[in-house]
Amino acid sequence: MAETHDRPPEQFTLRMRRYDPESGEAPYWDEHTIELEPHRSVLEAILQARDRFDGSIGIRCSCRQAICGSCGVRVNGEPALACHTHLDAAKHSARDGVIEIEPMGNMPVIKDLIVDMDEVHWKKIRRVTPWLLAKQPVPEREYLVPAESMVDVTQTIGCIQCGACVSDCLAMEVDPLFIGPAALAKAYRFVGDPRDDQHFERLNDLAQDPHGMFDCTHCFKCVDACPKDVNPMGQIMRLRRIATNDHHIVDQNNGERHEAAFTSLIRDNGLLWEAELLPRSYGGNSWFGKFHPRAGKELLSSLPAIVRALVRGKVTPAGALKPHRIPKPDLRSIQSIYENVESREQRSELNLYIAGEDEEPPPPEVPVVAGVVAPVAEMESADGAAEGAHSAPGPEGTTKPPDPETAAEETSEGRAPEGADVEAGDSGSSPPGAEGSTSQ
Ligand code: SF4
Ligand code: SF4
Ligand code: FES
Repeated sequence: MAETHDRPPEQFTLRMRRYDPESGEAPYWDEHTIELEPHRSVLEAILQARDRFDGSIGIRCSCRQAICGSCGVRVNGEPALACHTHLDAAKHSARDGVIEIEPMGNMPVIKDLIVDMDEVHWKKIRRVTPWLLAKQPVPEREYLVPAESMVDVTQTIGCIQCGACVSDCLAMEVDPLFIGPAALAKAYRFVGDPRDDQHFERLNDLAQDPHGMFDCTHCFKCVDACPKDVNPMGQIMRLRRIATNDHHIVDQNNGERHEAAFTSLIRDNGLLWEAELLPRSYGGNSWFGKFHPRAGKELLSSLPAIVRALVRGKVTPAGALKPHRIPKPDLRSIQSIYENVESREQRSELNLYIAGEDEEPPPPEVPVVAGVVAPVAEMESADGAAEGAHSAPGPEGTTKPPDPETAAEETSEGRAPEGADVEAGDSGSSPPGAEGSTSQ
């Protein structure tokens, strides 16, 4: 780190997208060369260009440390926080050595790099009732909430409302009315909170809305865009699972039927049988689904696409009529996964899309003593002094002996208890209070 900061200032050229709707002119590119140390941020470079060359450059910022979410832009075509992007990294990813900066997508531009977040992002956040609808009666002192429930929603609490996920959402490009990744992640923040009284109502509302949670196409763009590892797509999948598996909500968008048809086709055949998926998603999850009037209507409207696919050889009549087959032992292995998962009393939520921090390396083994090898952790737990060395410092910075109650509290605040629904990245990169400071 010290080495990076010791590097002398260098020249960086910024190519910025400029647009002033009041001027009546079309957007244009504007270039400025600034001089700064390579570890400084793209935001500092923009501010320097504004101070030295053109005071009319429009950029929004506040905290300059990746907390307030104000400085969202696109750097070299990718969504980013300008204050959280180093100049050397930005230059490295630039096509021709010039750092390209544009306003975020899917939102109207107010001026230069400033977009109208109120028009899109905040409107959608307000759409999901972004506050707790508390269970009644409100307890006299406080709600007692299991620690693991709070750990479960920590990932969404880390959202700083920067709009980067909205900027990159492909479904929103096609359907601007889609509620979108940030708002749906916010919705999970309350659906996952046991103090909230309206889980069913929230889920039913988001499931029945034609621009709701079933509009997401799993493109992963919001997962990559998010600077805080909120994993909006993962939260959308969780909303869907709770809506369909726990509340048995059957939605008018065929989301529940589509999920059921998809999973049972894989279970029965080992591979997806695409020709059967559409009629079952509309008509019901069985071979007879295709005879339901809903499925007939959908098949009829899809006829031009089906004919084009047949003409171009993307689908063959034999392939449409017969499921794909895999060897029997492979099919049996797939079915045993289903049996294993379905035999569990409780559903385990796994977040497969966030890498998070590297796993801790296994504890080193101590040398063999009299033919016995004991891991260091075991040695320490047998030694009271060693345990004390691991406990948190007391209020005055002294080292306290471990106390079972305190240990339980620590677990609720910072670490997940064993077996809890913890997702890598749940620890969140926002400081405590980030949610309160951004729930504007
Ligand atoms: S995964 Fe879904 S919500 Fe996320 S960007 Fe893609 S379509 Fe949008
Ligand atoms: S989910 Fe991530 S990308 Fe989207 S608004 Fe929140 S912090 Fe920004
Ligand atoms: S100025 Fe970049 S997040 Fe606050």
